[in-house]
Amino acid sequence: MAAKLMRAVRYDRYGGGTKDLKHVEVPIPTPKKNEILLKVEAISLNPADWKMQQGALRPLCPRKFPHIPGMDVAGEVIEVGSSVKDFKAGDKAVTYLGLRIGGGLAEYVVAEESMTVARPPEVSAADAAGLPIAAITAYEALVDSSGIKLDGSGKLVNVLVTAASGGVGHYAVQLAKLGNAHVTATCGARNLDFVRSLGADEVIDYKTTDKAALKSPSGVKYDIVIHCTTGIPWSTFEPNLSAKGKVIDISPTFIAYLIYIKAKLLTFSKKQLVPMIAHSKRENLDFLVNLVKEGKLKTVIDSKYPLSKAEDAWDKSIEGHATGKIIVEP
Ligand SMILES: NC(=O)c1ccc[n+]([C@@H]2O[C@H](COP(=O)([O-])OP(=O)(O)OC[C@H]3O[C@@H](n4cnc5c(N)ncnc54)[C@H](OP(=O)(O)O)[C@@H]3O)[C@@H](O)[C@H]2O)c1
Repeated sequence: MAAKLMRAVRYDRYGGGTKDLKHVEVPIPTPKKNEILLKVEAISLNPADWKMQQGALRPLCPRKFPHIPGMDVAGEVIEVGSSVKDFKAGDKAVTYLGLRIGGGLAEYVVAEESMTVARPPEVSAADAAGLPIAAITAYEALVDSSGIKLDGSGKLVNVLVTAASGGVGHYAVQLAKLGNAHVTATCGARNLDFVRSLGADEVIDYKTTDKAALKSPSGVKYDIVIHCTTGIPWSTFEPNLSAKGKVIDISPTFIAYLIYIKAKLLTFSKKQLVPMIAHSKRENLDFLVNLVKEGKLKTVIDSKYPLSKAEDAWDKSIEGHATGKIIVEP
């Protein structure tokens, strides 16, 4: 009997860009014993999706083509593999599919149980789909790399979040405010009120003339910087850091790191530039879903696109001006 087909969007090679995304019909995948078949309800896009298509993230990129991109998915469980313990048909779930694996831009996808958590009814599919890469990255940067306690019990720290209006940044501001943090944030002029509404204590328009200084309006020095954009040199961060201040760089480059090492050797300073790649742990995703359920964290949705217009969502992400998350719905 012929396999049932589903709609999907895929590409056949590195480097082609939006025009290389193809709408196809392919067989609905079958879950292996530790996997779950989800009927996709919402997918969120991340810069990693199109950077991977450009070949920028090799060797983390998919090695086999064609490749269906999309890693952050919320959906309904249709079928489970024989070893799956925590899910059954009809459950709502949210999952991280993995950089090399993807598969999200489709009507159905298989997900590993080990990276899938339950989605409670209080959390919409789109709000849940925003979380896996962006919110986990913000969480790991603040908690694992910076030691901030989200129950507010730690000592007061001054945090700077760059690109606070973006996918990672808007979660980072909200999570930092759950900790005992004074938050300064950078964003464009149109988003100053939006970023304040997320809880930022001070905001800096990144296009004003003194943008290069990153100087806090109140004059605080930053203990932690969650650096969510690119192109800001170490020499700009350094004078704005406290004596042991740390920049967590989530888009690290070799050149930026070399310049930092050279400056550090000359000054013996205790200030640090720390490159970070998120590890996307299941327990962290579960924690974040529950924060949304409790109303302590929200996903702000920039825009929604149907799967038939996935290329418009792709373009929107490449443009780099989303406020919050870009969602695709089958
Ligand atoms: N290491 C990891 O594990 C990891 C995980 C996730 C993401 N990342 C990386 O982190 C970066 C951010 O990801 P994202 O999902 O947050 O991106 P995003 O949602 O596409 O970010 C877009 C936002 O950034 C703002 N922005 C752009 N340049 C800015 C600047 N110089 N100063 C202040 N704001 C600026 C834009 O504001 P305007 O529209 O006003 O310009 C827009 O609101 C990407 O490079 C991504 O690849 C790394």
